Amino acid sequence: MEEPGLEWVDWFRSVAPYIHAIRGKTVVICLAGEMIREDHFNSFIADISMMSAIGARIVLVYGVRPQVEELMGLKAVESRYVSGIRITDAQALSCVKEAAGEVRLDIEAAFSQGLPNTPMAHSQCRVVSGNFVTARPLGIIDGTDYQLTGVVRKVDKEAIKRELDFGNIVLIAPLGFSPTGEAFNLTCEDLASSVAGELKAEKLAFLTNVDGVRRFGEVVTELTVQEANEFVSKKLVDDEDIYNLRYALKALNLGVSRVHIVPYALNGGILEEFFTHDGVGTMITSENLESLRQATADDVSGLIKLLEPLEEDGTLVKRPREKLEREINRFYVLEHDGIIYGSAALYPFPNEKLGEMGALTVDSAYQGSGDGERLLKHIENEARKVGLTRLFVLTTRTMHWFLKRGFRPASVEDLPIEKRKLYNWQRRSQIFIKDL
Ligand SMILES: CC(C)(COP(=O)(O)OP(=O)(O)OC[C@H]1O[C@@H](n2cnc3c(N)ncnc32)[C@H](O)[C@@H]1OP(=O)(O)O)[C@@H](O)C(=O)NCCC(=O)NCCS
Repeated sequence: MEEPGLEWVDWFRSVAPYIHAIRGKTVVICLAGEMIREDHFNSFIADISMMSAIGARIVLVYGVRPQVEELMGLKAVESRYVSGIRITDAQALSCVKEAAGEVRLDIEAAFSQGLPNTPMAHSQCRVVSGNFVTARPLGIIDGTDYQLTGVVRKVDKEAIKRELDFGNIVLIAPLGFSPTGEAFNLTCEDLASSVAGELKAEKLAFLTNVDGVRRFGEVVTELTVQEANEFVSKKLVDDEDIYNLRYALKALNLGVSRVHIVPYALNGGILEEFFTHDGVGTMITSENLESLRQATADDVSGLIKLLEPLEEDGTLVKRPREKLEREINRFYVLEHDGIIYGSAALYPFPNEKLGEMGALTVDSAYQGSGDGERLLKHIENEARKVGLTRLFVLTTRTMHWFLKRGFRPASVEDLPIEKRKLYNWQRRSQIFIKDL
């Protein structure tokens, strides 16, 4: 009988691998100034606070563009931009400082909530800010003097790391200071990519006004550095996407592992992006995230998480941990971004030139995308490589899947002698064989 609440328990268990994966990792999040005005801003802060509580080392970099625009409007000062970058004169800088101070206080206030029955109950997030960034003037480019607009010269990564070691969230305003004591206005995306690069962060997320990088009207879920470079150099995507991609590429070149472009308008967007297989925005990485490879001892826990629910409902035969550890080199796993979501094992019987495929599994959330077939083909190839000529499976629930893939029903007599002895007459699995 399914116990009440079991669905919830299953769900909670299913996020465990992502929690393990983010723990101790440095995550830099760049908040566009618009995000602070979103209705779900407090929920966003609760999400960040939760990520910090589960061990992520969080740096928040924020922008203040709409707040500065508003202040300049009130003071009747005209904004001037060239190539999307503000020309910051003395009046504009005073607005940037005012806006940065106010937004900082709003963010600190949001982190201080702790009402019972809200996600912030018992939260003890400490937010620290400081003079972590040294800047220099952007200077004169193509005849345009950007005045007090600056670029990052140095990030005091040791000071930031010390705060992160204490479990504090580091909050960085879009301002940097020069050794002469001047303040410079910084572009938050540029600042965030420099900070993430200096810290060699595992993740940098830009919360932006777009849904992600869009191609032919669709958000591209994942991009490699090569693809991102091509999108930028050949102008294959909109200007806004190119703008975000340039900073993403800068961070990746500086050693950040993954950059995410996530819409700030989506309530819970950052959680979906970080804690689900496909995410909601675009992830850009320098490595191939998905791999089908032979399992190693490090994969045992991941495999247990994948196989356990199917062993419990009787789809798969139970394998104790020690057996799995002993047989780990027989397993092949499908991995995405550090999470194991598929497996299959090959047990060769060289005398009969037969191979058994076992533990063929794809996490239920990702079934139906051809991964089961990929695993089967891989096992077939591995079997051929070691000179096997036939592959068999024992199954109680997946007969049709195998029939559709060239297997035919067989009997216990067709099994290798060793396996025949172990055949479980109570389980009465059906046997299917395929010529390779
Ligand atoms: C069998 C399994 C590995 C297939 O993985 P997958 O990634 O969904 O496989 P594919 O995407 O290559 O194939 C999907 C197709 O198989 C079908 N399918 C899935 N499970 C099936 C089953 N038990 N019986 C018959 N067909 C099945 C799907 O309906 C889909 O059909 P379609 O392509 O016509 O839409 C996966 O369903 C699984 O892990 N099942 C539970 C474990 C299990 O039974 N393993 C076999 C142990 S012997």
